[in-house]
Amino acid sequence: MSVPILDVIDLHAAYGRIEVLRGVDLAVPRGAVMALLGPNGAGKSTLVKVISGQKEATSGDIHLAGVHVRGARSDDLARVGLCTIPEGRSVFPNLTVEENLVLMSYAGVPAPAILDTAYAYFPRLHERRHQLAGTMSGGEQQMLAMSRALASDPALLLLDELSMGLAPLIVDELYETVARIAESGVSILCIEQFARTALRVADYAAVMSGGRIVATGEPGEILETMADVILGGAA
Ligand SMILES: Nc1ncnc2c1ncn2[C@@H]1O[C@H](COP(=O)(O)OP(=O)(O)OP(=O)(O)O)[C@@H](O)[C@H]1O
Ligand SMILES: [Mg+2]
Repeated sequence: MSVPILDVIDLHAAYGRIEVLRGVDLAVPRGAVMALLGPNGAGKSTLVKVISGQKEATSGDIHLAGVHVRGARSDDLARVGLCTIPEGRSVFPNLTVEENLVLMSYAGVPAPAILDTAYAYFPRLHERRHQLAGTMSGGEQQMLAMSRALASDPALLLLDELSMGLAPLIVDELYETVARIAESGVSILCIEQFARTALRVADYAAVMSGGRIVATGEPGEILETMADVILGGAA
């Protein structure tokens, strides 16, 4: 097997004295879409924060495409191809759609190319290019957040609860785009509380509970074995 795009090894992290990541082991194969599922408080967002350099680990290792990156700063991680869309999105509400996108050109991709990519994946953003981001619907803001992430030409995209607060139809639409982004060669780790649509586009799935990965496999296997934990009545 080739070197995974992301390899997390026995990772521990705590808030004060409360340990929240208690030995996380997780490998995302290059080019794959992996869904990381798990209930409220499992530690999913904490894992995202540690991988993306926003929170320190207490022990363990993180490798990105074979390079040791635990403790690296967010901007250095961006340079090696990691891009994160945190829980709750990340757009500038008082800037227009287009301004939000053009700002991302600081990372090196020219503005016209960023706009072309964004509008190709999300024609809706083109229609709304002069609208203030903060006045758009939640789904449209998530499209913008994804487009901003793509502007850095990532090798690995971390998506923390893409579906939060959105109607199922919009979530389906966003995940169809996730699948298209993956087809273009980007590896993707998508974090969700429930199975929902994420498993439909995922090549692999992992389940987190109590600060550990408690199951990994193909989506079908995970659904069968972990139905109680991950469906939670909201599939
Ligand atoms: N800044 C913080 N300070 C203290 N405790 C925190 C902090 N952030 C998270 N926690 C705690 O860490 C645990 C894991 O939280 P985390 O946000 O990683 O869970 P999650 O799996 O993302 O949950 P959800 O599905 O609700 O988003 C929870 O018990 C939470 O209360
Ligand atoms: Mg979370």
